[in-house]
Amino acid sequence: MKNIIVGILTLLVVGLMVMTAMGGRAFHGGEAGNVIEDMGSRTAATSQDSAPKAKDDRVIEQDKLRALREKAGNIGGFKVSKDYKSKCASCHGMNGEGIIGPKLIGLKGDVVYQQLLDYKAGRKENIVMKGLLMNLNETQLKEFADEIGEFEARAAAQ
Ligand code: HEC
Repeated sequence: MKNIIVGILTLLVVGLMVMTAMGGRAFHGGEAGNVIEDMGSRTAATSQDSAPKAKDDRVIEQDKLRALREKAGNIGGFKVSKDYKSKCASCHGMNGEGIIGPKLIGLKGDVVYQQLLDYKAGRKENIVMKGLLMNLNETQLKEFADEIGEFEARAAAQ
């Protein structure tokens, strides 16, 4: 009796192993990487057919290329002032794309200037921004604002 139970269990385990090896493409390194990289375009890829798979791989390649190009674009992004780089970029991104702080690219210079004045004066409450702007005078705020106002045009000129 005991032997029969052990036998059945062994068969079950071996069966599961075989199923995993055959069906589970996602268990193998390269494929799993792709699945994680590109969940979106793989949602339809449930069949084991080779034709859809080939198409899938092309989509993945295109996505990879696009991601690479975007990355390269960011590295070679437009120029910003030293002051922006050292005082603002850590939170708002090298090109104002936003990280911890909100996205700045696309804002108009006079809008930014008003916001900076408001933060500094405490009319708009934010400890982080207020602390940062405390030691900057209005001329400097205007310079930052004017520069940020130009971001969109600088990005377009790339
Ligand atoms: C330590 C992080 C940090 C740094 C550095 C920083 N900011 Fe901010 N900034 C923030 C956060 C967080 C907010 C959002 C505050 C809020 O919700 O009102 C913000 C908001 C802003 C806004 C308002 C944007 C909007 O759409 O409402 C402007 C403009 C701005 N920052 C400009 C600057 C400038 C210019 C500098 C450099 C002098 C700078 N920030 C540096 C964190 C930062």
